Amino acid sequence: MLRFDVVIIGSGLAGLTSALNLADHKKVALITKRLLLDGSSNWAQGGIAAAVGENDSIESHINDTLIAGAGLSDPQISRLVATAAPKAINWLINNGVEFDRETDVSKHLHLTREGGHSQRRIVHSADATGGAVQHALAKKVIAHPNISIFEHHIAIDLITGNKLGLPENRCFGAYIFNSRSGKVITFQSDYTILATGGAGKVYLYTTNPDVSTGDGIAMGWRAGCDVANMEFIQFHPTCLYHPHAKSFLISESVRGEGGILRLPDGERFMPWHDERGELAPRDIVARAIDFEMKKRGLDCVYLDITHKGEEFIKAHFPTIYARCLTFGIDITNVPIPVVPAAHYLCGGLLTDEKACTSIPNLYAVGEVACTGLHGANRLASNSLLECIVFSFSAVQDILGSSKPARPVLPPWDESRVTDADEEIVIAHNWEELRRFMWDYVGIVRTTKRLTRAMHRIELLREEIDEFYSNYRVSHDLLELRNLVVTADLIVRSALARKESRGLHYSRDYPHQLEIALPTILHSLPEISKSISFV
Ligand code: FAD
Ligand code: SIN
Repeated sequence: MLRFDVVIIGSGLAGLTSALNLADHKKVALITKRLLLDGSSNWAQGGIAAAVGENDSIESHINDTLIAGAGLSDPQISRLVATAAPKAINWLINNGVEFDRETDVSKHLHLTREGGHSQRRIVHSADATGGAVQHALAKKVIAHPNISIFEHHIAIDLITGNKLGLPENRCFGAYIFNSRSGKVITFQSDYTILATGGAGKVYLYTTNPDVSTGDGIAMGWRAGCDVANMEFIQFHPTCLYHPHAKSFLISESVRGEGGILRLPDGERFMPWHDERGELAPRDIVARAIDFEMKKRGLDCVYLDITHKGEEFIKAHFPTIYARCLTFGIDITNVPIPVVPAAHYLCGGLLTDEKACTSIPNLYAVGEVACTGLHGANRLASNSLLECIVFSFSAVQDILGSSKPARPVLPPWDESRVTDADEEIVIAHNWEELRRFMWDYVGIVRTTKRLTRAMHRIELLREEIDEFYSNYRVSHDLLELRNLVVTADLIVRSALARKESRGLHYSRDYPHQLEIALPTILHSLPEISKSISFV
């Protein structure tokens, strides 16, 4: 058993920001299932939205957020986040992050542009903003004496009052599997922060890294947290299409800086779909590409930035240029083959403005949370911002709270399990789940396909629960168990929405209802009790 004031699960931007802001006051455990820098944050390209430009305003940032959110973004939360954005950028700069600056005498921050933004508003470090941010913050986290980092430790489940048979369902920490030693450790904490990121790996094609398997959402759900808006999966319009390129994003800022989407014969098609052309919000661009690909039987479409010239391209998109070149694509000379891919989960564990979930002492920050900011469609580059702003909120709430009582926690019990003899079951089910989610729960949905997906999820769920109850846990099994819960929540939410709004498009309900309502699923603690512990 290990005891900390705060256990943070996840070392993306949400986890690192929370850890750094807590560490002068609290003993912090930072748990991460692979290496410290593994996560979407480190892969982020375009940048961070903040109204810091001369002609920009907080009101305009709020307005663009609300328009993208298709009536479902919470206006108060949007105001909170947009207002805090300049402070968030300053905090990063003070922690050593170097953003691109104008080359003129002003040396103001250089701002790039992305879809849905009415202004140049994206603060960035060339086309590798996430890497610049994560490397700078990780350096500070590693050096802080109050932060203990646990790499290759994957959280299995939260320890809650419900599980202990106590009258109140508080969170007291988590069971964590050390995937190197094979041992499960009990981490006791006064406060627990879930910062586990998104769930792109629930789909066959995704821009996300391997760690994005919906673990925090599944853990929170099993523990009794409410979950919201899971049907709103953002498909990024432009992921590199190449047989050997796994998950490589072509940043929206390529379109922001003038990139044009073309059919194989070179014809531009976005103006047929939206008057904003390539800079329409992502849901519209992704659906337009999907439409053109299906109509013409295409494997991909093309993103053309060649007209901007070699010098501009190499200066603004050095990472994308270099990566494409490794696949033999010189983006200064030829258009880039692209397809849409699952990119961002707008829904998640329902949280309030303090980042509190519906379970006391349990916080959720970053992509794992549904704060109300993104509504039915996230505005580009609002996500890294949300990680920082709600980390600040969670920390403020923790530092203002009185220390809770610490009950005695039972150790992990594996007296009734044996070593797995059929690992192939895990690999097969991973593959099957991701494929039918792509085919049946993609960019354009129908009730029939969603129902099909639901039936398959029920079968997989039974099989995986049985496997989990009988065999010792492993990294892959834990992720698969979480993916199937996440898939279930996505499909259930999609079936519940009887309209098309933002990222959720149903052929059976093509119209948008007049009143915008979130989809909130309430977790049943009985379910969590029956499947969470061996
Ligand atoms: P992550 O950064 O994904 O971190 C999650 C962490 O949790 C990881 O450390 C992971 O290992 C850990 N973890 C997960 N489960 C467990 C477990 N069970 N036990 C222990 N550890 C666990 N957004 C923008 O605003 N601007 C951009 O330019 C931008 N570009 C993007 C480009 C790409 C390619 C991608 C994939 C996303 C991009 N996004 C962007 C979205 C944004 O990067 C993410 O939403 C954001 O980084 C999420 O941060 P996070 O801290 O919540 O999660
Ligand atoms: C990108 O660079 O296109 C990603 C931006 C985002 O997801 O917000």
